[in-house]
Amino acid sequence: MPAITLTINNDLISARQGQTLLEVAREHGIEIPTLCHLDGLEAMGGCRLCLVELQGSSRPVPSCVTRAAEGMVVTTHSDKLVEYRKMLVELLLAERTHTCSICVQNNNCELQTLAAKLGIDHVRFDYLNQQLPMDASRERFALDHNRCVLCLRCVRVCDAVEGAHTWDVRGRGSTSRIVADLDRPWGTSTSCTDCGKCVQLCPTGALFKKGATVGEMRKERSFLNRILERRRLAAQGGTP
Ligand code: SF4
Ligand code: SF4
Ligand code: FES
Repeated sequence: MPAITLTINNDLISARQGQTLLEVAREHGIEIPTLCHLDGLEAMGGCRLCLVELQGSSRPVPSCVTRAAEGMVVTTHSDKLVEYRKMLVELLLAERTHTCSICVQNNNCELQTLAAKLGIDHVRFDYLNQQLPMDASRERFALDHNRCVLCLRCVRVCDAVEGAHTWDVRGRGSTSRIVADLDRPWGTSTSCTDCGKCVQLCPTGALFKKGATVGEMRKERSFLNRILERRRLAAQGGTP
């Protein structure tokens, strides 16, 4: 793959053509916060937490979907970006009901970790206090819409990895929700195979295993790399 050179945070860095700015930054030990992005799933550029500044661009760009190009000058951390990221996380916290102390994902939650890393100790926006329903109709798993950040990891993994396409999104804006089988209770879904992949990749306590008590839910994500590696080998004609 042809090499390119760009500048990130005043350092000259070499990258491979086709890599995203996020991939290049991570390869060079530069940490950029992400939420909707997960290695192995198609990037969607939804949460905007990975925004970076690009010289010559009037607005910041999401690094998970922006390809590195020759001569780019990128800033991954500035006062403005940190303030932006704080605001985005605060808006997520205000939009739904994330009460960590009674969440099965307490201390194992990506949203909670992000908020802590950004030093968020209060939210400057009015809480919407939405009373969204909980769908506990599936035998092994449950979905609490109040903790959903609409990252759509569940939609993408169910579609592209499990091939079941159970989840979709209904509505727009702050009231939109993920729905099973075009808006049926998850328990009545005929497409869901109960594989649990969506539960494991959900960054918050929105999707969880029934029976897990507060703070007990641990998510196991290594399966994704194993599956993708097997697929890659199979595509190359090797032994999966
Ligand atoms: S458990 Fe598996 S099949 Fe069912 S919704 Fe989740 S990812 Fe899709
Ligand atoms: S249920 Fe979880 S994985 Fe699905 S969109 Fe909501 S936060 Fe993301
Ligand atoms: S991680 Fe890039 S937009 Fe969400």
